[in-house]
Amino acid sequence: MSNIVNVGVIGLGTVGSSVVKILKRNRKEILAKTGLDVRVKKACDLRDKRSVAGSAYTKNVNDVLNDPEIEIVVETMGGVTPAKQFILKAIANGKSVVTSNKEVIAKHGREIISAADNAGVQVLFEASVCGGIPIIHALRNSLSANNIKEICGIVNGTTNYILSKMSGEKFTFEEALKQAQEKGYAEADPTNDVEGYDAMYKSAILAHVVTGGFVDLKDIYREGITKISPIDIAYAKNIGYVIKLLAVIRNDGKELEVRVHPTLIEKDHPLAKVSDNYNAVFVKGDAVGDLMFYGQGAGGDPTASAVISDILEVACTGSSCEGDDCCGDDCCGHDHALAPMLKLKSMDNVKSRYYIRLETYDKPGVMASIASVFSKKKVSIREVVQHGSDGSVAEIVIILHANREKDIQAALKAIAKLNDVKKISNVIRVGID
Ligand code: HSE
Repeated sequence: MSNIVNVGVIGLGTVGSSVVKILKRNRKEILAKTGLDVRVKKACDLRDKRSVAGSAYTKNVNDVLNDPEIEIVVETMGGVTPAKQFILKAIANGKSVVTSNKEVIAKHGREIISAADNAGVQVLFEASVCGGIPIIHALRNSLSANNIKEICGIVNGTTNYILSKMSGEKFTFEEALKQAQEKGYAEADPTNDVEGYDAMYKSAILAHVVTGGFVDLKDIYREGITKISPIDIAYAKNIGYVIKLLAVIRNDGKELEVRVHPTLIEKDHPLAKVSDNYNAVFVKGDAVGDLMFYGQGAGGDPTASAVISDILEVACTGSSCEGDDCCGDDCCGHDHALAPMLKLKSMDNVKSRYYIRLETYDKPGVMASIASVFSKKKVSIREVVQHGSDGSVAEIVIILHANREKDIQAALKAIAKLNDVKKISNVIRVGID
């Protein structure tokens, strides 16, 4: 067998360009370690990228998709259209695909992976979750003996940077976002990051990796960080917590939870110490116990590191069916049917502790009336903080014990209607439990 592996790259933005550069820079080392001579035969972008890809550069995507010598297509363009179409065409042409595209895998992974299984090729997407952190490989390979009970991850660097700046340097959300944009972490339109869509795509992919099934994105509870204020961060700090945007995947063997929301984390938890634009994933396996993976979740070179590891994995293992003549029946032991769709536990039944910040009129009996609502709804209070007020309006922070979401929401609805409650300023889940 020839040790030359011809690769075609579609999309020469930050990640695609880094893939081309690193394959060139580390070619000898990769050859020495793996015995594989990985060459970028064609690299496509609509912008002129000859400075990156040299003679491999092409503007025509079909030069990549139809080249019979290209075994592996790297898709680093992002988005759904036309990336999905290019991925499916590469598969139909018998090529394995390596992608960094979380959106296309989260939304269409089921169809894409089924197409690849039927064609006897592979689709790998390590770079789609947490850039350079090899979390998918670890879950699929090193941890395959385990039932993965829980994954809690800081999987979005932009929001972690913003929250870190709000916490460490007392920036407002707007100031921190502006700095994230100046540093190139956040896009001009930051919606995908700050509203939690990026983290939601990654959590759907992690749920797939640990279960083999797929989640309908509409079923994932998603909340971003735009409502977090410096006041919440200061209160959290006072009572020993930091606020992080968490992706939570929890599997108790009966029901699966997948959700993304800001969370108050105890300051001594390893995830609480992950700052700036770093990512970290905390994993609980039934055999291995607790593990934490930490590193750069974005950026050209870290993400390219993950892309190249997938290229080498495809090249080392050959097609997923271990033979070129898989017939789609039992010859390879794989089930070529579409993977199952997963039913998620209803958010109503998810139990969490809660932080609630309220503004009330500063009158006798206000606290008692709030406590009475919680008591009627069988919601248990753990801690109450009230700093001195201006005599007319008081700010109260209440920390609740773990309660069902449904009961909390019902209690909050009733509290919002109390005459002496001016407003419920924020509600944030607390703890990883
Ligand atoms: N925008 C993402 C982040 C990086 O800020 O983490 C790509 O997934």
